[in-house]
Amino acid sequence: PRPRTIFSGIQPTGIPHLGNYLGALRNWVDLQNGASPDDTLLFSIVGMHALTMPQDPKRLFRERREMMATLLAIGLDPHRCTIFHQDQVKQHAELAWYLMCQTPFGKLGRMTTWKSKLATARNSADESSIDETQLALGLFAYPVLQAADILLYRSTHVPVGEDQVQHLELSRDVADLFNRTYRKRFFPLPQHIITPTKRILSLRDPTSKMSKSAPDVNSRILLTDTPAQISSKIRKAVTDAERTISYDPTNRPGVSNLLSILSGLSSDPGSTPAKVAEELNGALARQAEQGGKELPSGKYLKDAVADVCVEALRPIQHELERVKMDQAYLAEMEEKGRAKAEEAAEANMQAVRRMMGV
Ligand code: ADP
Ligand code: NA
Repeated sequence: PRPRTIFSGIQPTGIPHLGNYLGALRNWVDLQNGASPDDTLLFSIVGMHALTMPQDPKRLFRERREMMATLLAIGLDPHRCTIFHQDQVKQHAELAWYLMCQTPFGKLGRMTTWKSKLATARNSADESSIDETQLALGLFAYPVLQAADILLYRSTHVPVGEDQVQHLELSRDVADLFNRTYRKRFFPLPQHIITPTKRILSLRDPTSKMSKSAPDVNSRILLTDTPAQISSKIRKAVTDAERTISYDPTNRPGVSNLLSILSGLSSDPGSTPAKVAEELNGALARQAEQGGKELPSGKYLKDAVADVCVEALRPIQHELERVKMDQAYLAEMEEKGRAKAEEAAEANMQAVRRMMGV
């Protein structure tokens, strides 16, 4: 197979939750571990994207460093991947501008993420919240910066969640337009690698996704939550009163979401939420047969989920503590990542500038 260049990014705002981990970060580690030695892997912390919304500088600075620590703690290997801050490689901004000069305005207006941000701003009755006229130009142009992030390294593959598929299509369009304009197949049209894990839902409202912006802190599990916090949040998760456990996302979204979490955290690559449900049901039935105390299925499921989450996060948290103690090491990794990314970016930008006549 042809060598791949795999690129992905995450914003440095806030501690990642279980949805980010199962939907994105853990997949990066799996890609790394399954990659061929000829593949190039780039994982970036996209501070420039965070700046499309108001940020407190001190907090942003701290969170950028913490995200670097997190990426190392989950198992990304700086010898194998380029792990870097996008905002330290200026070629991202340069290429974004060039691509913005070619991207039709109307195309960006059709992006669903923009439309939903716009609708929220328009419909908000809250006087203090941001109104439509104050939404930043950068927020509108965000998908072009994302295209620049990807194309800057001439990436061929991008692991993304379903919510990002439209943006990746835009990246392909932007690449194609550039190639046609300058009559050269310079940028590969990046393909997506869809994350195998199901979308993780809010523990408290399993009709919406687990998100760092939801006001209810009990709706999400953070990678840094203590065992007590994890148990408490899972105990408060919405389930139902049925006696058995089954995977039925339509009729039993809360139960099914917990099964997705269990299956996602399983070390068995063949695990599915439906198989997990079957196993748990078997155990539940055996317990009843043996005359043991009959637990309600929801309680039984929650106990299992809490145990698995605590065990899965323990080594990550341990590693995170260790890495964060060594700020000099983190600074060194950041510098190493920056230098490596910049070298590749500059080589490609020299070709881009030449093609464009600047
Ligand atoms: P949030 O929506 O919490 O602000 P981001 O938009 O920063 O999270 O997403 C970072 C990455 O995590 C993206 O690749 C996104 O697809 C993934 N992701 C976010 N929330 C979830 C979720 N609930 N389930 C699965 N993946 C998710
Ligand atoms: Na989001």
